[in-house]
Amino acid sequence: MQWYPVKKIFLFPSFFLFVFIVVEFSNSPGSESYDIYNNSATEQTKIEYDLKKLLRIQKNRKKRIRNACRDAYGNLHGLHRKSLNMSSLDHVISVDQQHLLYCYVPKVACTNWKRTLMILSGKANTSNPLSILADDSHRPHVWKTLVNFTTSESQSRLENYYKFMFVRHPFERLVSAYVNKFYQNYSDYFRFRYGRAIVQSYRKNPTDEALARGHDVTFSEFVQYLIDPKSREKGPFNEHWRPMHELCRPCHIKYDTIGKYETLLEDSWLVLENAQNNHEVGFPQIQKRSNVVVVKSYLSQITESQLKKLYKLYELDFRLFGYDFQVESNTNSL
Ligand SMILES: *[C@@H]1O[C@H](CO)[C@@H](O)[C@H](O)[C@H]1NC(C)=O
Ligand SMILES: *[C@@H]1O[C@H](CO)[C@@H](O)[C@H](O)[C@H]1NC(C)=O
Ligand SMILES: *[C@@H]1O[C@H](CO)[C@@H](O)[C@H](O)[C@H]1NC(C)=O
Ligand SMILES: *[C@@H]1O[C@H](CO)[C@@H](O)[C@H](O)[C@H]1NC(C)=O
Ligand SMILES: *[C@@H]1O[C@H](CO)[C@@H](O)[C@H](O)[C@H]1NC(C)=O
Repeated sequence: MQWYPVKKIFLFPSFFLFVFIVVEFSNSPGSESYDIYNNSATEQTKIEYDLKKLLRIQKNRKKRIRNACRDAYGNLHGLHRKSLNMSSLDHVISVDQQHLLYCYVPKVACTNWKRTLMILSGKANTSNPLSILADDSHRPHVWKTLVNFTTSESQSRLENYYKFMFVRHPFERLVSAYVNKFYQNYSDYFRFRYGRAIVQSYRKNPTDEALARGHDVTFSEFVQYLIDPKSREKGPFNEHWRPMHELCRPCHIKYDTIGKYETLLEDSWLVLENAQNNHEVGFPQIQKRSNVVVVKSYLSQITESQLKKLYKLYELDFRLFGYDFQVESNTNSL
């Protein structure tokens, strides 16, 4: 296990050059959601992965999580599903037909996972996940999460179902969220709900238009909002930038598979193998390539002090899921 305490990490002389050299990044400006892909491009080629290798990787990931949880919480006493408040588990989707629990993390291929699960559970009349509209996969009434059951129903699912989640480099996820919700003309919702307040709080001499529309939030202002302790006093972060461990509680829930965005296709294959899917549905064989240059350019817009605070904020995600600034550890995705 390699820990890199924050202080050490920032001793790297050319810090920015080290970051994300190999991390794949998607959502470069201009690219939108998965919908841009043509359905006909998804003729599934049946790829078989090395099951033993993938299981070995899973073992390592779970071991790392156990250790990181112990480090973070002192001991493992109380870190148990039984001590969870079920009303906080609104991201853990239950697919009863397949006895699956999927904790979805926004900005980590969750649309394609929801689409795939819609087919698996007979909610969509197609064998091609990409033919399902992204919006249809996100409608709340489509899914039951652990808030839709009684506590004992939820506990028995946590005990008996196959549980999985997917994670991604925390900074990469943040940049992706920023680009998608603030930079791209994706929707006015985030600009109204968050953008206007961010401009008001963190910009000197904002224009009336910026105050009214919240349309031109910079990455640096977004980061300032994230690291401002006041932002969390009003409640948890929006799900797109809420730390992954808060959404999925991996210290309390023993996930059977922890997938990574960096190895999305093979990890998804593993989940579907385990889900006794009988190859009825395959995970879409597309993965947007990450744009390293874009991530680096966004991170270079913030100060080192902002970067340190940002790291602190997401430190547990970094530790639990084995992300650090070392090229190697992101390469082997262990
Ligand atoms: C998608 O593929 C179909 C069939 O090959 C084709 O007719 C259609 O024009 C394609 N659409 C786009 C947006 O490329
Ligand atoms: C559980 O969480 C909900 C909302 O997240 C909160 O309203 C409730 O008080 C919590 N219950 C307990 C027993 O902590
Ligand atoms: C699914 O599609 C088949 C063939 O097009 C059709 O016969 C069937 O009624 C559809 N089922 C639902 C639930 O829409
Ligand atoms: C589950 O509960 C949420 C929140 O109360 C609700 O919006 C959703 O429709 C429920 N889902 C189902 C399938 O009943
Ligand atoms: C968003 O829309 C504005 C006004 O139409 C345009 O100037 C800007 O370039 C667009 N931004 C992106 C990222 O497409």
